[in-house]
Amino acid sequence: MKLKSLVGLLIIGSVGFLTAGCAEEQESTGPPPPAPPEYADKHMPAGWWADEKIIAEGKEIFEGVKNIDVNCSSCHGKDGKPVKAGARDFRKGERMKLYSDSVWFWRISEGVPNTKMKAWKSKLSEEDRWKAMAYERTFGLKGLAYDVAKKDWVPVAELGKAAPAAGAPGEAKPAAGDGKAPAATPAKEDKKGK
Ligand code: HEC
Repeated sequence: MKLKSLVGLLIIGSVGFLTAGCAEEQESTGPPPPAPPEYADKHMPAGWWADEKIIAEGKEIFEGVKNIDVNCSSCHGKDGKPVKAGARDFRKGERMKLYSDSVWFWRISEGVPNTKMKAWKSKLSEEDRWKAMAYERTFGLKGLAYDVAKKDWVPVAELGKAAPAAGAPGEAKPAAGDGKAPAATPAKEDKKGK
């Protein structure tokens, strides 16, 4: 009797263990969980999605040029094609779009439990984590930026622009009234040259 219930417990135990194992693997293909509160309000610093210098610095971090202890490309591949089994494939834009900038940043900072993706916050400053992300997104989401208000990835040039008001397509905004030129006069693009 005693032995039987012990065996029963063992069976129940291992079934539970196996199920938990499956759930763990499924988590990798399903949508990413939401960022925890400490990360939910963290976002890419203004202007960085479009900043070629930031992206170039991110590349150096990603490839281990800046710090050989941090080499994202040793698993994720220099061209975004994973070289280690199970590493996230950043070329799959449709999937990477499911990550907000906060979730992405959280994962880089804290890692993904039970996978080879470890926490990088002790090796990378916050700024360096954002730079790495600005570069990483060029594999599958090149030219796109995460728009916090829209909760979606949009072309960099449309970042922060409100959706056009319905019924007034192409209509110019009414003048502010004080006659001053709007602050948003297109800036000289001299910095953007390659
Ligand atoms: C030792 C191998 C390895 C290294 C080095 C590595 N990663 Fe990962 N990374 C992984 C694996 C494996 C996953 C997939 C985790 C999963 O199944 O969700 C992953 C996932 C990710 C994800 C997606 C998170 C998610 O929820 O799936 C991001 C973003 C990421 N890595 C960024 C980085 C950055 C940035 C670096 C360098 C600072 C880096 N990784 C270094 C193995 C690695």
